[in-house]
Amino acid sequence: ALALHLPDVPAEVPGASASALLPVLHHIQDALGFVPQPLVPEIAAALSLSRAEVHGVLTYYHHFRTAPAGRHVVQICQAEACRANGAEALMAHAGARLACAPGTTRADGAVTLEPVYCLGLCATGPAAMVDDQLRARVSAATVDGWATRFES
Ligand code: FES
Repeated sequence: ALALHLPDVPAEVPGASASALLPVLHHIQDALGFVPQPLVPEIAAALSLSRAEVHGVLTYYHHFRTAPAGRHVVQICQAEACRANGAEALMAHAGARLACAPGTTRADGAVTLEPVYCLGLCATGPAAMVDDQLRARVSAATVDGWATRFES
């Protein structure tokens, strides 16, 4: 079993358990790279929440993964300013070129492709983050370059 240190939450504070959930999920994802589904009951019990509440928060936020990421992680901004600069078409191109449906990890584990919602580069979109590196003005050719690099 995984030994996780979950912060103590004073039960007498109304709403304290729910407000502790996000930091706990962040802590687990930082430590493991994802939040394993089998931990949901343990988290729920530790915070006096229902499993459904924990599951709901876990799946609501795009930030959290419930499975390990691929060796390369491509995140393409789909927020408004980037959409105005072609981010939807870029995501479609990336899905085809990387052979990976948005929001999934390719079966061989090479690539995870994810939508994200604003990377702070709104004036120079479409923006992306590739293996933790921010990229501005991403084009289809940029994506093609990643695809080639990931296969080598
Ligand atoms: Fe894409 Fe802000 S909208 S970086």
